[in-house]
Amino acid sequence: MEKQEIRTFGRRHGKKLSARQSALIDNLLPTLQPTHGDILEIGFGAGEHVRFLAKSNPKSTIIGAEPFMNGVASLLSAITDEKTNRVLDEYKNIRIWADDVRDFLRTTDSKFNQIWVLHPDPWPKARHEKRRLLSAEFLNTLSRYLATDGEIIIGTDHWEYFDWILDQIKNTDLTATIADIEIIQTRYQHKNKAGTENPKYLILRR
Ligand SMILES: C[S@@+](CC[C@H](N)C(=O)[O-])C[C@H]1O[C@@H](n2cnc3c(N)ncnc32)[C@H](O)[C@@H]1O
Repeated sequence: MEKQEIRTFGRRHGKKLSARQSALIDNLLPTLQPTHGDILEIGFGAGEHVRFLAKSNPKSTIIGAEPFMNGVASLLSAITDEKTNRVLDEYKNIRIWADDVRDFLRTTDSKFNQIWVLHPDPWPKARHEKRRLLSAEFLNTLSRYLATDGEIIIGTDHWEYFDWILDQIKNTDLTATIADIEIIQTRYQHKNKAGTENPKYLILRR
């Protein structure tokens, strides 16, 4: 029997969606189902950084994975024209997987140039630690989906999780560089839940 995977995310549904958001989920989302992509963002939240990636890499297909449907709805609203509900030209290269990224990875043989994970849920309580997404096992899985010279870019402002990731990397085929990069503020960076200053970034390469 296949090993049951531990759930790494919290709730899938939040406050009631607007009529426009529900319509976008019913009608548009199925047309944006990903198959292959060049850049993957895991746990995109409200999708600010997915949109940034789409605009700055117009020739690449950007895949965002997020099981929180209100986040998916926010991204759909932001990439569409309010009147026609059509995807705006600058976002036509976005595909959305509205569920656990691990299920998506099983469906694709994509090799990504970049895989982004911004502010992964820290699961700070000791009994929840096993829910952390960026375990050595998952990082090794991601490594298999990297193009030659591909990079996994992780940002967090939760220093304990940051150190834990560095520890996990020791049991992978990846090497880590601590990077000083600046990107657009995502919702969670804005919330700055850990009360620290700027996030720290790790770039992982095979
Ligand atoms: C703390 S939020 C950060 C959201 C966003 N990246 C930001 O910076 O605002 C972490 C997100 O990761 C998502 N997540 C957790 N496990 C996931 C998984 N297995 N696949 C895809 N997304 C996941 C959660 O649903 C949540 O929205």
